[in-house]
Amino acid sequence: MRRLLIAANWKMHKVKAEAQQFAVEFLPRVAAVEKVDMVICPAFTGLSVMNSALAGSRVMLGAQNMYWEAQGAFTGEVSAAMLIDAGCRYVIIGHSERRHILGENNFMVHKKLAAALENGLKPILCVGETLQERENNLAMQVVQEQLQHALAGLDFEPEDVVIAYEPVWAIGTGINASYHDAQEMALFIRRGLAALSSEEAASKIRILYGGSVKADNIDKFLQQPDIDGALIGGASLEPASLAAMVGVGEHVK
Ligand code: PGA
Repeated sequence: MRRLLIAANWKMHKVKAEAQQFAVEFLPRVAAVEKVDMVICPAFTGLSVMNSALAGSRVMLGAQNMYWEAQGAFTGEVSAAMLIDAGCRYVIIGHSERRHILGENNFMVHKKLAAALENGLKPILCVGETLQERENNLAMQVVQEQLQHALAGLDFEPEDVVIAYEPVWAIGTGINASYHDAQEMALFIRRGLAALSSEEAASKIRILYGGSVKADNIDKFLQQPDIDGALIGGASLEPASLAAMVGVGEHVK
């Protein structure tokens, strides 16, 4: 049985005081949550304050990116060990904004994934097609290639890897994939995972949907049999909004 995971991707938002205030307002609202795993991924500068603020709660800390080398002359980069040291349990890898704005490719995503797993960080691997790729009927091919490149040759426990299907055209646009399309792709991903590892492993890997998820549309996504949670950007910035979505997860499956 896969536990639901609701992950907040704060992107480049919130200075320390704002992050702390979020925690003050959010934690009481989710204090009774039992069925949903919760992760908040602030900017690097917010990790320390959030690690303290979340201590003693069931809300886990994640980062939005990392570099694959352990240490060295890599100006501006942060290693997996540094993230563990900062209190992170999860790390988002291969987000489409990193792929499309910052030039990350499948090779880099694979190296990051390998380094995260080696260091005991749970990766949330993002995959997804652009609008043009979907219109050209390439969505499944693109997602399959992203998955294959990312996971090739890696040995991991299925519980340690999370896949987030985020169609690029649905991120921050207010446009969702249809529930049907999201489920179809989640199932396609699960079959791809089975081919890469085993049926049993694939049945244990959590697959999230992401892209303009909000409190008033999350229920239909979470009801889909192969969708095990959501990766949420814009709507995760308000405590009441994120708590409402976690609340939906608590009752949906
Ligand atoms: P959004 O972002 O919820 O603002 O569309 C999702 C994401 O990029 O992870």
